[in-house]
Amino acid sequence: MAASLILGAAGLAVTVLDIASFLQSLGGTPDPLKQTQVTLVIGNAPNSEGSIPDIYVKGPSGFQLAHSSDKSFFKDGHLEGSQPKTFIIDNDPGIDFYTQTNQPQYVSVVMTQGDAICLSAVIANGNGATYTWKGDMGAQCGAEWYESDFAIGNSNVPPKCVWLDSDHSNNIVASAVSMHMTDFAGPLLGQYQEKDEAGDNIGDARLCKNSARMTFYHEFEYGNWKSFREPLNFNESGAFEDPDLGIDRQKRAYPDGTELPWENVAKEKRSYPRNLSQKRNMNHQPDHLTISYLPSHSARRLCESETSRGADFLAVHGKEKLFCDMTRKHLFDVCDETHTQACFDMDKQEMRDVGVKIRRRDMSFGDVVPKKNYKTHSEWK
Ligand SMILES: *[C@@H]1O[C@H](CO)[C@@H](O)[C@H](O)[C@H]1NC(C)=O
Ligand SMILES: *[C@@H]1O[C@H](CO)[C@@H](O)[C@H](O)[C@H]1NC(C)=O
Repeated sequence: MAASLILGAAGLAVTVLDIASFLQSLGGTPDPLKQTQVTLVIGNAPNSEGSIPDIYVKGPSGFQLAHSSDKSFFKDGHLEGSQPKTFIIDNDPGIDFYTQTNQPQYVSVVMTQGDAICLSAVIANGNGATYTWKGDMGAQCGAEWYESDFAIGNSNVPPKCVWLDSDHSNNIVASAVSMHMTDFAGPLLGQYQEKDEAGDNIGDARLCKNSARMTFYHEFEYGNWKSFREPLNFNESGAFEDPDLGIDRQKRAYPDGTELPWENVAKEKRSYPRNLSQKRNMNHQPDHLTISYLPSHSARRLCESETSRGADFLAVHGKEKLFCDMTRKHLFDVCDETHTQACFDMDKQEMRDVGVKIRRRDMSFGDVVPKKNYKTHSEWK
């Protein structure tokens, strides 16, 4: 867990300068005192592109600054994979009256139409401030996620993406996410990984169990969107003075009471050996194979995560040579001189079924080597 968070944290260290030139390259020149610019980045996970969500923005005080929900022209469009889309949204009338320093500190991304997206970053920009959130933060806390190879700014670690879908087809849990944009950079990331003297992770709740900081919703209701009571205080190094402020729930990522199907499966599965057919199918693209040569990607990490979701995944690089059957979250070796049975044949893109040597001990349930028949594949280099 710690290792992947560190990776995520390193990936998040995008400087304001990088983001500024990145935004410039996308075009658009908003009036910073009257408009807010929100960029949604859809990575290139298979099938990650989809409907344009509604966007709501609040300033530091928790007052609504801008929203796109009545702008029907947004809704007709589509978010394309690997193509960040910038929305320039007029600030609500009268907002300048409150304060000239209103900056886009809270953002909610709310799906309203049926085509799911896998969101890998949100950049909010207005009134002299630019804030970035990446999908890694959601994945870290237990939102449904997949890898992507679309990097932003000058980072060379592409952020993970998180699935959002308004009609919950394929049982995607979340239809919306809210985030406190100021909280995902710099020394704060260290505070989310902090351990106490006994070695217990006290940082996780700060990131994952804090409704105002980041919440994934099955159904979003504007009235339930929490803000911090007052702007947060930082010490001279830019860390939270009170890092535990706002911890208010038991569940990670989602509001308490949200039904998370993988939690039920985990409970039922205590019996040994595990019954794999009880596992939830988290692969809604069984015809597609992702082949990644990127060292930041891991088929093992994807396979061992109960919240990962998406197409079968093959990681081939110096550190790993493994195939994840995402339908059953089952890890296999890639065939080579030493692995010749029940392994994944990269050339043929299918399983080689000779013998029954399987990595885990699930064979007692008569599990067989899966049949694979891909229609499409993508290669990430
Ligand atoms: C700010 O807080 C962080 C985290 O508690 C701590 O590591 C750092 O030393 C503090 N900086 C100052 C200047 O007090
Ligand atoms: C495994 O679970 C499935 C679905 O709940 C059930 O139909 C099947 O009988 C179980 N298999 C065994 C061997 O218990």
